[in-house]
Amino acid sequence: MVGRDMSFPEDFLFGAATASYQVEGAWDKDGKGENIWDRITHEKPNVIQDGSNGDVACDSYHRYKEDIKALKELGAKMYRFSISWSRILPNGTITSINQKGIDYYRKLIAELLENDIQPMVTMYHWDLPTPLQDIGGWTNPAIIEYFVDYARILLTHLGDKVKWWLTFNEPTHVARGYFQPNFMAPQLLLHHLGAGYMVTANILKAHALVYHMYDKEFRHSQQGKISLTLHSFWYEPMSDSEEDIKAANTAINFDFGIFAHPILGKDGDFPAVVKERVEVVSKEMGLKRSLLPPLDKEWIARIKGTADFLGVNHYTTRLCTPGPGGVNIPDSGVSLHIDPAWPIAASAYLKVVPWGFRKILRWIKDEYGNPPVIVTENGFSDRGTLNDIDRINYYRSYLRELSTAINEDNCNIFGYLVWSLMDNFEWIRGYTEKFGLFHVDFNKPDRPRTPKDSVNFIKNVFKTRKLPRD
Ligand code: BGC
Repeated sequence: MVGRDMSFPEDFLFGAATASYQVEGAWDKDGKGENIWDRITHEKPNVIQDGSNGDVACDSYHRYKEDIKALKELGAKMYRFSISWSRILPNGTITSINQKGIDYYRKLIAELLENDIQPMVTMYHWDLPTPLQDIGGWTNPAIIEYFVDYARILLTHLGDKVKWWLTFNEPTHVARGYFQPNFMAPQLLLHHLGAGYMVTANILKAHALVYHMYDKEFRHSQQGKISLTLHSFWYEPMSDSEEDIKAANTAINFDFGIFAHPILGKDGDFPAVVKERVEVVSKEMGLKRSLLPPLDKEWIARIKGTADFLGVNHYTTRLCTPGPGGVNIPDSGVSLHIDPAWPIAASAYLKVVPWGFRKILRWIKDEYGNPPVIVTENGFSDRGTLNDIDRINYYRSYLRELSTAINEDNCNIFGYLVWSLMDNFEWIRGYTEKFGLFHVDFNKPDRPRTPKDSVNFIKNVFKTRKLPRD
């Protein structure tokens, strides 16, 4: 470690992130409609580990000023939050626009700007209005235009103040809601129909249309930037055998490349290895066509280049070898493993593997020509303690790798946001796993926020733009 420059550039954007369903609460207040997480938590509470829901969560709908105080205390320059589609359009469509929803986000944004914190807004972080789910959700191509309508409302009403937009958060996770058991709403098991791949294609198209709409109707007057955020593990070959190296390459293309390649790849389109594998598997299933719907020439051209920068969420790493493939990346023919020596977090998936962070950032640079990247999420879960030394160790080690990626590998990274500002509703894990830098007391009606020890650590990094040497 000695000798490495462990600093961050002067204009680096440090900040924190959250998402609407995980923090807002007020699930049926002021005209908000029902979304798929309201529905699943109310109708099937037993799919959530502690039977909880986001009805109140951190109550950020009423307490956003406290969130901004916390951001201030941290020294954040950017706050990434998401918009609840059904708070703006209660039935999912522009036939009814909820002014109170728009007012809420305008107030939040105004307060951020007053405090010198730049908003980065995610249009979709997994909370689809239920009427849209009832027509098939993201598998129905009709959703593409509904999303464009929704995005136009956001850009029209908020775009004068917001310079950073993300259309989607982790679209691979949206797709998993249609095939992976016990995971994301709506928890459908439709892999045999190719539902996840339909979702993938529809999201890529919706994203591209919104990007072009921004170019045509808003960019000139608003002067912002627009992209999306992709999630990926780092996929390390289990050994240096050729098969394992190939397996790791296949895995990252299934998980990351499936969205990144059409948008950032030289020739656009899905990665060749994904097209080939899904074709083979579809044939083996007895189908006459691939489960992965092909993108035609027009769509390939329309999707290519639709990112002013790239958002990357990263937490952990897997070891890869050929095998039957798992629920995470079906059809890949890759089986994923962990090294039992890797330290663990409260979340079963989250093993502490800092070197994987540098590797994925480097891979993105090499694969896609060093695009401007902002890390839009990175963080650690525990069961809840104010003395969160394991979280500090996680951040220390991951931030070291980040600074190395910037200073030694020359990766074009312009910002880093922690996940998360505060403890919140962790999807099917409910409130059993805590990612916050600020503790939230969910037993008290006023949901007090209390800084954990990690606040001091992060605050110091944000302020000095340097990592402590210890
Ligand atoms: C998601 C967050 C989630 C976090 C921690 C990310 O994949 O975007 O919503 O809370 O992981 O598991």
